[in-house]
Amino acid sequence: MTNITRRSALQSMAIAGTGLAVGVTASAQDAATKPATAGMKVPAYSAAVYKLDDLVGLNKDLLEQHYKLYTGYVNNTNKANAALSEMLAAGKADSAEFNEYRRRLGFEYNGMRLHEYYFGCMKSGGSPVDAKLKKAVGDVWGSWEAWMTDFVRTGMMRGVGWSILYQDPMNGALSHHWIGDHEYFHPAGFSPILVMDVWEHAFLLQFGAGGRKAYVDAFFKNVDWSIVGKRLK
Ligand SMILES: [Fe+2]
Repeated sequence: MTNITRRSALQSMAIAGTGLAVGVTASAQDAATKPATAGMKVPAYSAAVYKLDDLVGLNKDLLEQHYKLYTGYVNNTNKANAALSEMLAAGKADSAEFNEYRRRLGFEYNGMRLHEYYFGCMKSGGSPVDAKLKKAVGDVWGSWEAWMTDFVRTGMMRGVGWSILYQDPMNGALSHHWIGDHEYFHPAGFSPILVMDVWEHAFLLQFGAGGRKAYVDAFFKNVDWSIVGKRLK
């Protein structure tokens, strides 16, 4: 005991008091309490506006509540970015709270952006099928109908998430993916082409717990294929 300083003894006591394992040095302790950076410069996101009050087969209450959920993701993305920036600037980045915000950011951000792909391709009554898209999916699945069946099959998988037609920008390949929650199983770097929400909040209020297929049918009555086709490269 005679070789340790009063400062290191106090630090050891503090560490012991938190139940942490040994091995935290004085320099690490100091670094954790000093502002490491000025934080981050991050953009503030704003909710997009969509005309959703006259979609075919999807009632207004359902869509109003769904849109409200979307705005929550926008707000929570901004809050998470602000909290991360503040904690980084305050030297609190080595904390469980910071890690949780960082983990949460992917959920909130994808919740925001996927809803924008989804609402952004809907208009009352939809539009005629885009010829370029029809040919592209026909080249992969054999026909428009076979492609549609496989896309809907993906959307009927158990669980909450999204059915997405993606394009690989590296070679132009098209593929279907099931996205769990908002952030799981995205193929890295792929571009979303058609995005369909199959969380229960997307249909439960109008169609009931077993109404996913009826909701999917209604969704396809309102797809603006001209917008979907423009996403294809
Ligand atoms: Fe949703």
